[in-house]
Amino acid sequence: MVPAPPMPRVFSGIKPSGEMHLGNYLGAVRQWAAQQDDHDALYCVVDLHAMTEPFDAAGLGAATRQTGTALLAAGLDPARCILFVQSHVAAHTELTWILNCVATFGELRRMTQFKEKGKGQESVSVGLFDYPVLMAADILLYDTDEVPVGDDQRQHLELTRDVAARFNHRFGDTLVVPKATVPPVAARVMDLQDPTSKMSKSIDSPQGTVLMLDPPDVVMKKIKAAVTDSGTDVRYDPAGKPGVSNLLEIYAAATDGDVAEAAAEFDGQGYGAFKGAVADAVIALLGPVRERYAALAADPGEVDRQLEQGAEKARAIAGPVLERARRAVGLLPPV
Ligand code: TRP
Repeated sequence: MVPAPPMPRVFSGIKPSGEMHLGNYLGAVRQWAAQQDDHDALYCVVDLHAMTEPFDAAGLGAATRQTGTALLAAGLDPARCILFVQSHVAAHTELTWILNCVATFGELRRMTQFKEKGKGQESVSVGLFDYPVLMAADILLYDTDEVPVGDDQRQHLELTRDVAARFNHRFGDTLVVPKATVPPVAARVMDLQDPTSKMSKSIDSPQGTVLMLDPPDVVMKKIKAAVTDSGTDVRYDPAGKPGVSNLLEIYAAATDGDVAEAAAEFDGQGYGAFKGAVADAVIALLGPVRERYAALAADPGEVDRQLEQGAEKARAIAGPVLERARRAVGLLPPV
């Protein structure tokens, strides 16, 4: 029998900042869960990246565990993927140092995210500047083939590819140069109160953000209060009717349908009935996730154990890759 070809290895990271919201879930995490069976998948809670901007030391560990718990609740299954915490695998920081000596000041200075996050700040950490190199290390440590990235991370992935190729050119073929993949039909979920900007952390827009763990009555209230557009017809028109179009996207994603179908379904109905149906669909989607979260959160020791098992598997892959990189750059091996 011909052995099955190896599955492509995919890596993605999520920061442990803020609670996960419907945009994270529909736009990314649900896809992560869906691709576990046809990918060799690694998912990482990037706590070291969370330290690149002002952060609360007293809350960092809890936020990391909370994000790990939410990912498990959202369907990441430790039997089918490797889920771990970045700082639990020391090789990430060690490879970062080696790559720091390959990446250039000039290319990091040009990163849009750095320029934007650093803008108007009185003091910017070296960590924020180095953020893309740590991200490159995350990816390259696992011989990653594919990285699903949204638009905001595309430039960082290009940098990762450039640094890997330069490393290989300078030190011999060592690192796998990864490809960016466009997440399949990821819903782009916009803020309910301001449907021209992306749904983001709830502290920025509590009423416009549906949290993954919001109870049904809160989901209902937020969606009922969503900004809709003038007129009364339910029609998909992102430019002319951004509010209604966002709700149609959410409905289509939550019911695994498409927007055209959804628009046809609500044609001729008023906004009130439409919003109620959208809320019901979201409540049905998130119900099982909330239940799993509650069960997991009741036993944090078990969550920590699952994350540690993930870290163990991650270390087993990362160790030899780091070793290859150390050798390639000529570091003296310890005896
Ligand atoms: N920078 C990514 C974000 O803000 C998170 C991240 C860290 C990541 N390391 C990664 C994503 C590696 C993909 C691969 O969303």
